[in-house]
Amino acid sequence: MIVYKDVVKLELDINGEKRSVIVRPADTLLEVLREKLGLTGAKPGCENGDCGACTVLMDGWPIKSCIILAVEAVGHKIVTIEGLKDTPIQKAFVLKSGFQCGYCTSGFIMNCQGLINIHPDAKEDTIKEWLQSNICRCTSYEEIEEAIKSVLRGTE
Ligand code: FES
Ligand code: FES
Repeated sequence: MIVYKDVVKLELDINGEKRSVIVRPADTLLEVLREKLGLTGAKPGCENGDCGACTVLMDGWPIKSCIILAVEAVGHKIVTIEGLKDTPIQKAFVLKSGFQCGYCTSGFIMNCQGLINIHPDAKEDTIKEWLQSNICRCTSYEEIEEAIKSVLRGTE
């Protein structure tokens, strides 16, 4: 990390690529992903850690990118929805119709991928509890649960 007056130059590991970016120390990871790196899949919603629309993976764990600073992401592997193209969970959301307007969808998919990474044997209760960190305003949560279950059971 190189520090200039009022800004810092970072190297971030995003979707398996090293990306150099100049940020202000107070910039959130969400702002940097969207505004400096052109990765607009993570969405701004509440911007206070409640809705999950901004979820990305850090070292395999889902995190809310609106409440972490970009400088805190240095040295960690970040994966965004753009890095999950053609993965089983992405396909499962399509097959199970796990979205309507789609605004929350990238965050849900990232959160589900986190569950797959961390609790591949998750049962019903764990799945329901895990999904509580994200909010959808327009679809039923049933289809989202079906999508994640189909991947965990290998039936997608
Ligand atoms: S925008 Fe980050 S949790 Fe809502
Ligand atoms: S699909 Fe519209 S908010 Fe979730």
